[in-house]
This record gives sequence, structure tokens and C-alpha cells, in this order.
Amino acid sequence: MNVTFAKRALPNSGSVLVLAGEKGKLLPSAEAIDKASQGQISKAIKATRFAGGVGELVEILAPHGTKLARVLVSGFGKPDKFDALAAERVGASAVKRLLKSGETTVTVMLDAVEGAPAEASALAAHIGSGAVLEAYRFDSYFTKQKPNEKASLAKITIATDAATAARRLFTEQDAVAEGIAFARNLVSEPANILFPAEFARRCQKLSTYGLDVEVLGVAQMKRLKMGSLLGVGQGSENEPKLVVMQWTGAARTKKPVAFVGKGVTFDSGGISIKPAGGMEEMKGDMGGAAAVTGAMIALAKRQAKVNAVGVIGLVENMPDGNAQRPGDIVRSMSGQTIEVINTDAEGRLVLADAIWYTQDRFKPQFLIDLATLTGAILVSLGHEHAGLFSNNDELSERITAAGKAEGEPVWRMPMAEAYDKLLRSKFADMKNVGGRDAGSITAAQFIKRFVNDYPWAHLDIAGTAWKSEARPTTPAWATGYGVRLLNRLVADYYEG
Ligand code: BES
Ligand code: MN
Ligand code: ZN
Repeated sequence: MNVTFAKRALPNSGSVLVLAGEKGKLLPSAEAIDKASQGQISKAIKATRFAGGVGELVEILAPHGTKLARVLVSGFGKPDKFDALAAERVGASAVKRLLKSGETTVTVMLDAVEGAPAEASALAAHIGSGAVLEAYRFDSYFTKQKPNEKASLAKITIATDAATAARRLFTEQDAVAEGIAFARNLVSEPANILFPAEFARRCQKLSTYGLDVEVLGVAQMKRLKMGSLLGVGQGSENEPKLVVMQWTGAARTKKPVAFVGKGVTFDSGGISIKPAGGMEEMKGDMGGAAAVTGAMIALAKRQAKVNAVGVIGLVENMPDGNAQRPGDIVRSMSGQTIEVINTDAEGRLVLADAIWYTQDRFKPQFLIDLATLTGAILVSLGHEHAGLFSNNDELSERITAAGKAEGEPVWRMPMAEAYDKLLRSKFADMKNVGGRDAGSITAAQFIKRFVNDYPWAHLDIAGTAWKSEARPTTPAWATGYGVRLLNRLVADYYEG
């Protein structure tokens, strides 16, 4: 989607989106068209249940007295609630309506909204980024799309008094949108295409953004004694990889922030194999790694003034003749031993070594891991919040605020030593599952054993990395969850 910003003036051809508030109260551009068309807009609104809610639409084709092809009237909700996220929804709903309509361009008339909490430039920029996020498609594997199933809308112009400032803000948001699209693509790719080596190759290409990318193979990981991560990968023909991405946007002496992602490119469960129903979704079990990669893209593309490192553990969890067995004991890079009771609790085994490696090598300011870790977090929080587990209140508050501001909310879950007894093993330092009770918490308690004295947070994104239904700005399936949150966290607290 091509997004441009222009001076606020009603075009006299093509499609136009105008705004209306609660109860259908028209803003000036809407009113102007209403007058020219002898009340066609007000009549159309009266004929529907339009109440002016955010992104609610009424469509009028070829209004009289104008040369316009169509007018979309979009609600913007309560003026004092018309913020960046609401603006995104306006842009998104326009795209949703027009994407395959046959229309190729639309002009959004952003009149001043009295009492809005965001500046006009920010509202304009977010209408643009909402449009971009909504226009995302993963359709490269359809070979038989008919012309009328293909996207027609290619350009959105936002007409605003703050075009120059909006353009600048949009460039930043577009960097984030690119990271989100990259993450969504990774999550959507099938596992026969996106296995660890292919994921790593795609990361290597990111050096064009100024990222420094290293890929560690099995031999190097063996030398580092990553027995926990390697154990998960040993049942697959597709060898594991560990990718290290660095962005240096601040003085080299400045400690980096660190993000670690679970990158299980397919989770069959291994010998503790999963039931067949829905197993195809486990191609998305690298959603944490995708979010980390997308966030690194966003930081690099917008030249963030921070040093950041993204480490992703890429592994395929499969049950071949060499696969890890229940009862196997592995030695992690930290030296701690783990009895693998259930080979399907593989994410924490991958994270154990990836996290240890990251803190050992980079001594970061803080470390956040993201992982589609437990089905139990879906039981707790559904698809609405990611689970947040942390040893640090300040970091938790910042993550919570960043998530809220970006529409990627988290909910903090408890951690406590009392859960540790559930991880006791008869034969090793710990076992990799804690049983049915408090499944997401015991998983977090497990990970915590591989974190030294660093501010650390773990985001369980099993319910948010993909969703079967579309939401405003997130078409169905891969969401790219985490990219926005991490980028915002850095922007608000760790730059400059
Ligand atoms: N990748 C899954 C978790 C998951 C489930 C992600 C549903 C997304 C949607 C993870 O590796 C897993 O299998 N976890 C097990 C842990 C159990 C064996 C302790 C689970 O949640 O059942
Ligand atoms: Mn699993
Ligand atoms: Zn998994």
C-alpha cells in the first residue's frame, strides 16, 4: 500500500473517506459533500444504524452534485478517545472495505477533531499505518486467484493540515510495519519451506538493514555445550541454528537490550507426539523468534538510538529414530541437567540455552524472551493478552505500558518459589514439565533457572501470535505480535 500525505482539500474525483462523530455528526468535509449532494450523506446515515463508532462505515456510491466515485463515511468515536490506535482502525476499516472493491485509490479527509488526545500529524500517520497493516496479505501460494479476488486498492492519500509532520512520523511507523509484515510472513510460512536453515538465511539477508547477523550451526552449539537446545533438534533431518542479530545505534560501550525468541519451526511434539487435530498450526511455533526478528528490523530501519541484540533458537521438534526420548537427561549450557519427561515441552529447552548464551555473551541491560510456550496460557488469557512473567517490577510496568499503547496488551502472572517443587526430578536437577496445574507458571519458573541476576521478562505469546479471526489492523492468522511492543518499549525508555 502506497501511503501519501497531502494538503487538506476535497478532491473532485475518485473515492473519498470523510469523518463523522457520534450520532453521525458530520465533520466539515463530510458536511461539504452532504451540501453538494443535497443531503445524500445524512440520508444514507439515517437509513442505517450508523452511530459513528470507530471504523463504522457508510458507503455512498456516485453522490449527486459531485464527480466522486464513492464516499465512505467513517465514524471516529468519542473525540476524546480518538487516539493513535483509533486512527489506525479508521485507516484499516477503509482498506478492508476497499481492498478488493475495484477501487485503486482513496483520499482520507482528516478534518480537525476538537478534543482529540493525539495531534493531527499523529492521527494522520496512524491512519496510514493502520491502512498498511490491514492491507497485509499472505497469498503467495495461491496460483488460481481470479482478478476480482486480487487487491485493487494500491494507494491511500491522507489529506491533512499537518502533512509534513505526518510524513515524518509515518516513516517511523512504516519501519515497524515492515517488521510486523516480516514476522507475519515467518509465522505463516509452512514448515517445509521455513525450517531452521531457511529462517537463518532470511535473517542473514537483514544485514542490508545494518544489522550484524551471525548464524551458529550444530558444531558451534556443541562446542558451547548447548545440550538442551540440541536435544530438541536431534529428531529432525533439519538441523538447528542459533541466530544472533545485533543493532548498534548507540555508543559501543553502552550495554545492549536483549530479546530472545523461541523458534520451533515445527512442533510435532516429538516422541510425545501431539494429536493430529490442529497440529498444522504448530508451523507458527516460531512466533517468538519472528517477533524478535521483526523488532530488530524495526529498530534498524528507523535507526533507533539503542544497542539491541536479538537471539533466536531455531529448531524443528520431530520424532525420528534419533529423537530425544522421555526420560532422557540433557546437560544445558548453564551446566544444569534436565530430565526430559515430555518431549513436547521443548520450547523451554530451547530457551534455556539461548537465554544463557545471550546473558553470558552480552551482559545486557535486561533480557526479554518471547515464546509460544504453553497451551495453558490460552486457558488463562485466551487471545486477548499475552502472559507476562518477570523478576522485575519496573521492567514489567514498562512492558505493560508499551503493550497497552500499541494494542498488544499483556497481563502479568505470578511467579513464586512455591511452584518450584513441581519441577523436582528423581534423577536430574529438574524435569522439563510441572504437571497440569499452573502450566504456564511452572514453564516460567523453569526458564527463570537459566537467568542470572538480570532484569528479565518472559512473554508467553501462545494465544496472541496467531488468531483464527481477523481483527482491525490484523488480518486473520499471523499477527506479528510483539514487534510493536518491543519497539515501543525501546522508543519510550531505552533511547538516548
Ligand atoms: N508450542 C506448544 C505450545 C502451544 C500450544 C503454542 C498451543 C500455541 C498453541 C508447546 O511446545 C507445548 O507443546 N507445550 C505443552 C507443554 C506441556 C507438555 C507441559 C502444552 O502446552 O501442552
Ligand atoms: Mn511442544
Ligand atoms: Zn512448542
